[in-house]
Amino acid sequence: MTLIDGKQTAAEIRGELSLRAAAFEERNGRKIGLGVVLIGNDPASEVYVRNKVRACEEVGISSHVLRLPAEISQEEAERAVEALAGDHSVHGVLVQLPLPRHLDERKILAKIPVEKDVDGFSEQNMGLLALHREGTVSCTPRGIMELLKRYHVETRGKHAVVVGRSNIVGRPMALRLLNADATVTVCHSKTQNLKEICAGADILVVAIGRAKYITADMVKEGAVVIDVGMNRDENGKLCGDVDFENVAEKVSMISPVPGGVGPMTIAMLLSNTVDAAERTAV
Ligand code: GUN
Repeated sequence: MTLIDGKQTAAEIRGELSLRAAAFEERNGRKIGLGVVLIGNDPASEVYVRNKVRACEEVGISSHVLRLPAEISQEEAERAVEALAGDHSVHGVLVQLPLPRHLDERKILAKIPVEKDVDGFSEQNMGLLALHREGTVSCTPRGIMELLKRYHVETRGKHAVVVGRSNIVGRPMALRLLNADATVTVCHSKTQNLKEICAGADILVVAIGRAKYITADMVKEGAVVIDVGMNRDENGKLCGDVDFENVAEKVSMISPVPGGVGPMTIAMLLSNTVDAAERTAV
């Protein structure tokens, strides 16, 4: 069994990106900038934003974090995103999700111009992905494809099963795999025969947010398993959606939690930001 080491791979990618960020600064006389909007005080979002800021510092991207109160009005939130996106020193903008319930996510994300949409959540970028055209792909699916590539996992003609259909992970992941010539099945909370479908997967990507939900009897011998989950187990320890200890004995490759997909998501955010900055400069 090969452990898919996202931590190590992400560190390599950050090394590559820091060279590009330094070259950008040399050419343009200023750093690449990432604008991050954090509304409210969701504890998980606080951690993600802190990790994003730290990763920016490591590669030489300046981060501009805009913290807004949970009670902010829709109009004020839209205006704040618009103002940050209009700043010329900011090459990429993201709004950390989820938003407080009273806010309209779609309208707020629409204030990010497509060329600065480094999360790839815009309707235009999602549409381009669906049409198999060039656009910015959201960070987690891009990070997973990068892991599959760097670990020489063939996708062409393989049966890829994606468990989860969120706009952030499941949907764009299924499209990326389809664009890479996999035969793709998407499963979700209403799926019947989940166990049988998962057990037929050559590549199994799980993003459902339920601790250790995928057990050894649900995976095929020799499969490649990618775990996007980020949960706490009964002892409060960080764990994925896959029952790692038991599944690992059966598969050919598996990504752990932590140290698998998580660091890759952030590396791809930095990569999308460097790409966005380089596009403005030419
Ligand atoms: N919330 C959970 N994952 C993500 C992500 O990749 N980007 C943003 N903006 N919010 C998230």
